[in-house]
Amino acid sequence: MVSIEFLVEREDKIVFILKDASPALVNSIRRAMKSLVPVLAIDYVDFYVNSSFFYDEMIAHRLAMIPIKTEPGRFKMPKECSCGGVGCPNCQISFRLNVEGPRIVYSGDFVSDDPDVHFVYKDIPVLELFSGQQLMIEAVARLGTGKEHSKFQPVSVCYYKIIPRIEIGEKCDLCGECVSICPRKVFSLDGKIKVSNPLDCSLCMECVKICEAKAIKIVETDDYLFVAESTGAMPAKEVLRQALLILKGKAENFRKMLEELNV
Ligand code: F3S
Repeated sequence: MVSIEFLVEREDKIVFILKDASPALVNSIRRAMKSLVPVLAIDYVDFYVNSSFFYDEMIAHRLAMIPIKTEPGRFKMPKECSCGGVGCPNCQISFRLNVEGPRIVYSGDFVSDDPDVHFVYKDIPVLELFSGQQLMIEAVARLGTGKEHSKFQPVSVCYYKIIPRIEIGEKCDLCGECVSICPRKVFSLDGKIKVSNPLDCSLCMECVKICEAKAIKIVETDDYLFVAESTGAMPAKEVLRQALLILKGKAENFRKMLEELNV
């Protein structure tokens, strides 16, 4: 049975081991975390005044890349909203700004319609306004998924790797070559060769190649080390939880479709 063991559980990062999983399952989880979990991002910007040196498009692009705190379930996807995607408080939120130079405009200068929904980081510089320049804009955020655009990705890092079983056989002559060649410092020599950091192995196989006694065996297992870092839009563990819920929903739909075939 597949099981999960968390090694790191921080708001911004999770590291866990998925035991007895198939490559298809672990890759589905990764793809769902990157591409299917919806988060807010700026989608369009109305410019009322922009006398800065920056084109409207450059400012809009920068704003789209700033992560926004997203509480799951608080907003609806535009196509699922009762407004039909036209735009209402259930599916979008505005961030307003009206400032004059000279000054640097930071992400924290924007005023959100809802104080609970804000840019994750307040100190991201957006642009510099010089004396006499003004910027008056309304930036509108909506939910979207990474499948649509990378600005909607809730994770900045999301990868996994196989955890190998590293076996040192009786033929080992304690030459120590594997200890010095391993780039990930997996082995240590303390009277005998020990596998001290098996989770760090990148399967480069340098140890196997250099071992003249042919004493090292690297066996691929069904265990995976999974690492995910959040953009801050939602806690990393919540991204995982949402991804699993989405996958469960898809699996359930698939099961129903198969049942309907009724051959
Ligand atoms: Fe090191 Fe061998 Fe793994 S060289 S990274 S232990 S395959």
